[in-house]
Amino acid sequence: MDKNILLIGFMGVGKGTIARAYAKAYGVYNIDTDDLIESKENKEVKKIFERYGEERFRALEQETANWIEHNVKGTLISCGGGFYKVNNLKNLGTVVLLDASFEWIYNRLKTAKNSKAKLAKRPLFQKEKEAKRLYNERAEIYRQVADVVINVEKLTTKEVIEQIKKIAGIKNRKQ
Ligand code: S3P
Repeated sequence: MDKNILLIGFMGVGKGTIARAYAKAYGVYNIDTDDLIESKENKEVKKIFERYGEERFRALEQETANWIEHNVKGTLISCGGGFYKVNNLKNLGTVVLLDASFEWIYNRLKTAKNSKAKLAKRPLFQKEKEAKRLYNERAEIYRQVADVVINVEKLTTKEVIEQIKKIAGIKNRKQ
């Protein structure tokens, strides 16, 4: 695949999990925008928020988007939950939304084996009420910016990655 595929969606919906399962199943590399930022800044996302605030983090996301636009192709990219705000999203690849209800996501995070760590590293998921407000604010925008929407609630990981594989194939044939 020449075109990148970007997985977007709310925190905790499983973008990273799906991207890693895809990479493993199809023998490809995947990258994650939070990981890119953490390695460039040599600081955890959580620390960047604490020390410099959300605005700085968003600027780093934009820098990352610019870097991807010029340097990355044919790669599956899992994006931080707010990455959809970058001004060149559409130039980066096919945008695939992993969609689920807030309740499903909350339950997924709460029942995860490493639930505490999963929540602790997400500064915007500290209070359920606040996270839900953010979810409601973004739900429609995610759908608007996405080229494809996959509702993951009733699908297995394998089924989701198969759908992504199909999308990758279709996009390549169109080029
Ligand atoms: C954020 C989501 C996080 C991370 C940061 C901000 C957001 O990524 O980029 O904490 O604004 O939704 P995940 O979606 O991987 O949790």
